[in-house]
Amino acid sequence: MKIRLAISNEVKQIAKIHCQEIKYGFLTQLGEKLLSKLYQSIILSPSSFIVVAEDNNQVIGFISGSTNINKFYKEFIKKYFLKTFFILLPKIFKPSAIKKIIETLCYPQKEKYLTSSELLTIAVKKESQNKDIAKLMLERFILEMEKRQIKQFKVIVGENLLNAINFYEKAGFIFHSFISVHKNKSSKIYIYKLK
Ligand SMILES: CC(C)(COP(=O)(O)OP(=O)(O)OC[C@H]1O[C@@H](n2cnc3c(N)ncnc32)[C@H](O)[C@@H]1OP(=O)(O)O)[C@@H](O)C(=O)NCCC(=O)NCCS
Repeated sequence: MKIRLAISNEVKQIAKIHCQEIKYGFLTQLGEKLLSKLYQSIILSPSSFIVVAEDNNQVIGFISGSTNINKFYKEFIKKYFLKTFFILLPKIFKPSAIKKIIETLCYPQKEKYLTSSELLTIAVKKESQNKDIAKLMLERFILEMEKRQIKQFKVIVGENLLNAINFYEKAGFIFHSFISVHKNKSSKIYIYKLK
């Protein structure tokens, strides 16, 4: 197995793992096509990156992150607005969906006093979970943050995602506060401080 930075032609595999393993997340509702665009923009952005675990030429897990989430979302909107507009079109007829998109893009503003470096998503394929793959990917992820001279980063996790919460707490993330990105859905903010 190899742990390394992702390359552009792996975005479809990454988006598929995201949809399979983070079933009820808002981003999952956008579908694999739009998620592939999001992950492609993360790989191409100088302020963002994805670490993958690869086994037999297949991606079996990933962690995505950004050293500046506000900058990343601005870049994403600027570069991909038109491309994603047509993918989003059937979904944005629902007012609730428009609201969720705005809330997702605006939450960094709500939390602007916190670090802008962020672990965005983590997932490991079901059949490969509990084999320390996330742990190894996180070590590589932290190294990449360190190279970019980041002193701390945050993660926002749905309070119902107990596996992930357990994983973050075991890995040394410190609980910071609760946040409601989408009304009625509480998430927890954790901070990881680099040594
Ligand atoms: C969270 C997740 C990435 C962990 O991946 P993983 O490869 O199974 O984790 P690891 O095997 O590296 O586990 C590392 C540590 O976390 C702990 N851990 C992982 N899953 C756990 C669980 N379900 N319950 C308790 N502890 C758990 C392990 O015990 C291990 O600690 P240890 O080495 O001291 O025993 C995986 O469960 C997953 O993909 N979940 C679905 C996606 C998700 O919810 N993502 C978060 C939203 S962004």
